[in-house]
Amino acid sequence: MADPAVITEAVQVLMCDPALPRPALVLEAGCGSTSDVYLPFETKVAGIDIDAEQLKHNDRIEIKIQGDLQTYELPQGEFDIVACVDGGHSYEYAMADSLTARRLLAPGGIIMWHDYPTYPGVWICLEELSKKWPSKFRWVDGTALVTWKPD
Ligand SMILES: C[S@@+](CC[C@H](N)C(=O)[O-])C[C@H]1O[C@@H](n2cnc3c(N)ncnc32)[C@H](O)[C@@H]1O
Repeated sequence: MADPAVITEAVQVLMCDPALPRPALVLEAGCGSTSDVYLPFETKVAGIDIDAEQLKHNDRIEIKIQGDLQTYELPQGEFDIVACVDGGHSYEYAMADSLTARRLLAPGGIIMWHDYPTYPGVWICLEELSKKWPSKFRWVDGTALVTWKPD
């Protein structure tokens, strides 16, 4: 599970970005029954999870979407932050999530992933994407968090 304290700390450093709108529209992919993303500024958080029961217990998100991230028709180019922090950790899952996240990202938006150094599938996926996608991937010091923001 993602560590909320670590995520918050990392996000505090990263999100001092004046370009991000307030409130920032956040999508948490595979949010489950509790959100691990606590952002220290005004946000509107939508969570998508395939499991209705998990979602029912999640009282941290404002918009609940029950569905499969890979097939649910979410609005493209709308989300300021897409958080892939705690869904699946296989290479296939991480890659599919990442490609979807990129399509959903608003101009100037940020994708964040967790578990970069801890799960081989996530590691390989992000290593591969960092060679293909423009602009820099940032591995946040001392955390398992990686962010990407297109130029
Ligand atoms: C590790 S759990 C969630 C952790 C969450 N932070 C919590 O503590 O409840 C991963 C979640 O991803 C969801 N999930 C798996 N595949 C999914 C998919 N394709 N689309 C949406 N949600 C998915 C699962 O239902 C599960 O709730």
